[in-house]
Amino acid sequence: MYIYRARVFDTPTNPFTGGQLRSETDIALVVDDGKIIARTDIGTATTAHPDAEVIDLRDGILIPGLIDTHVHYPQIRAIGHLGKPLLEWLNECALPEEEKLVDDAYARNVADEFLTGLIGSGTTSAMVFGAHFASAVDILFARAAELGLRMTTGLVTSDRNLPEPLLTTVDRSLSESQQLIDRWHGQSRLRYAVTPRFSLSAGPELLAAGGQLVRDNPGISVTSHLNENHDEIAGVAQVHPQAQDYLDTYDKAGLLDRNTILAHNVHPNDRELARMAETGAAAAHCPTSNSALASGFFPLRRHIEAGVKVALGTDVGAGNGFSMFKEGVQAYFMQQLDPNGGQPLTSAHLLHLATKAGAQALDLDDKVGDLSEGKRFDAVLVRPTTGQPLDVGITNAADDEDALAKLFAMGTPADIAGVWIDGQPVK
Ligand code: GUN
Ligand code: ZN
Repeated sequence: MYIYRARVFDTPTNPFTGGQLRSETDIALVVDDGKIIARTDIGTATTAHPDAEVIDLRDGILIPGLIDTHVHYPQIRAIGHLGKPLLEWLNECALPEEEKLVDDAYARNVADEFLTGLIGSGTTSAMVFGAHFASAVDILFARAAELGLRMTTGLVTSDRNLPEPLLTTVDRSLSESQQLIDRWHGQSRLRYAVTPRFSLSAGPELLAAGGQLVRDNPGISVTSHLNENHDEIAGVAQVHPQAQDYLDTYDKAGLLDRNTILAHNVHPNDRELARMAETGAAAAHCPTSNSALASGFFPLRRHIEAGVKVALGTDVGAGNGFSMFKEGVQAYFMQQLDPNGGQPLTSAHLLHLATKAGAQALDLDDKVGDLSEGKRFDAVLVRPTTGQPLDVGITNAADDEDALAKLFAMGTPADIAGVWIDGQPVK
């Protein structure tokens, strides 16, 4: 048993609906077998648990483990490309790299690099966009299980409009996906997600096969892309002439429910927003990717007004890194700049989007997302180097919300001094 004595920031209540930042300067979290069994003052904690080891973290700020709801495993080596819109970037940058994961040795190296990047940035739970090759996905599951990451991922499927090595068939996608589900879903902290790449590269039969997997395997998730770019949306309409809009391609296939996360949704219509709210499907907002590919301004206010769940994703490798702090501050920038009038965001909104909202999107909020009694101890200690700008900013902050704003503005993976998943230190 451990008692973590710390300055703790989290957002158990939703700032978009009247909640606010919960900040404590000196609080004790009593953790037994990975679970927070008490959240109290240090005197009460040590009296109740005299044998527990006290770990003093008050030289930093402890926040809930960060939750990345959209990040591509095979794209770590594609991060940082400049100057192309989505379809050009896919063809010239991302897809040639993704083809290389046909080689298991290559995939093993990429899986290690990817998981190092993710955990090193303080991400403790993630919806990971997998690879087009079943053995590369198996390698990722195995490595994530060893490291203890709370990860949902799956085999990416496509049957058209991509380079031939990345294509599959309905039958092959069903059998390979089912094998991965049987092997990994529910093991360790792992879950499976049916993952059609997007409706531009998946016809109605392949999407319907994904719906079949969801019906056959209750509790598995779904992830894909939605309404990212105007050329992409026009292409989807050609592949799916019977669908009323992009979202409807997934809906017709039985892929929409509360375990569905759809990345981007920069250009939704009102019907799509209403239907996402009705089904419980979440949007993964990926602001550095939307900026890098010039996809557009994410209509956050319309999502919130429609009642759609929204969380943050890095979208590595179109997004330019694993840092959820960077995504948070980029979300803020883009809402500030949106010519249609963005949603004003405080630092409490940013923390909520990067933690609790992600837990809700991943249907993990009974376990993680904040540091309340009863939750698992998934946590990140931010402790900047003394004298560096982030340290100066936090030391001189006007109040806790201001300190949190500085954390999002200046925090980097180098400032992350500790990461725990289920009470286990992983960094
Ligand atoms: N749409 C289909 N595939 C991708 C991808 O890899 N990245 C992004 N940003 N959008 C996509
Ligand atoms: Zn993506």
